[in-house]
Amino acid sequence: MYSRSLSRPTRRTGLLALVAAVLFTFLLLHSYQHTPPAGQRAGNAAGVASALYSQPDLSGHAIAPRLGNETIKAELGRAAWKVLHTTLARFPEKPTKDESEALRSYIHLFQRLYPCGECAEHFGEVLKQFPPQVDGRNVAAGWGCHVHNVVNKRLKKPQFDCSKIGDFYDCGCADDEKEKKKGT
Ligand SMILES: Cc1cc2nc3c(=O)[nH]c(=O)nc-3n(C[C@H](O)[C@H](O)[C@H](O)COP(=O)(O)OP(=O)(O)OC[C@H]3O[C@@H](n4cnc5c(N)ncnc54)[C@H](O)[C@@H]3O)c2cc1C
Ligand SMILES: *[C@@H]1O[C@H](CO)[C@@H](O)[C@H](O)[C@H]1NC(C)=O
Repeated sequence: MYSRSLSRPTRRTGLLALVAAVLFTFLLLHSYQHTPPAGQRAGNAAGVASALYSQPDLSGHAIAPRLGNETIKAELGRAAWKVLHTTLARFPEKPTKDESEALRSYIHLFQRLYPCGECAEHFGEVLKQFPPQVDGRNVAAGWGCHVHNVVNKRLKKPQFDCSKIGDFYDCGCADDEKEKKKGT
């Protein structure tokens, strides 16, 4: 009798404590999920990104290991240059600040993550000497041609005539602007 009368309130207190703990945890998690990151509260898009993931070092060490196979190295190079030059040929003529910064980051990370580690090391030095020009399509494409020529020179390959870069990478990609012009 004595032990029962004591155990009842004790059990109820225990149950209440458990309910309180569950509620507290739930509220804590709930409020955590719904608290906007500092940047969002400030209306700052960059702040949101930095709250979700930290920014990489754009000019940090080359990430990939050495690529020994020369056949694969050359194949990869031709494909990579094609992507880079085509990206620059299709970059806006009058980019926004955000678009320019996207291109700058892209080029630096293209270098850092380039799958041939020793190529990436060399190209990192080229970028230090010739930082990406991202203010518009023409300067960007000219810059791309120039840095490719720097690599060509080191590999004892012929120089490309950069005055022909515009026509060379006009991919006939069914560009919207040109389609419109033809239509009018
Ligand atoms: C960032 C980077 C770094 C590299 N580093 C190395 C390295 O350290 N060691 C190594 O062995 N290889 C490296 N490569 C690969 C190398 O540059 C070549 O891609 C590869 O040797 C194949 O050469 P390719 O003669 O077929 O012509 P590529 O140089 O691949 O060029 C492909 C085509 O692009 C055109 N082209 C040539 N020059 C230009 C230019 N200046 N602008 C625009 N278009 C042009 C030509 O039509 C050419 O046929 C690198 C590639 C890249 C993308
Ligand atoms: C390099 O790669 C090519 C293509 O995959 C392959 O045929 C060749 O045997 C490789 N060479 C060496 C030395 O491993």
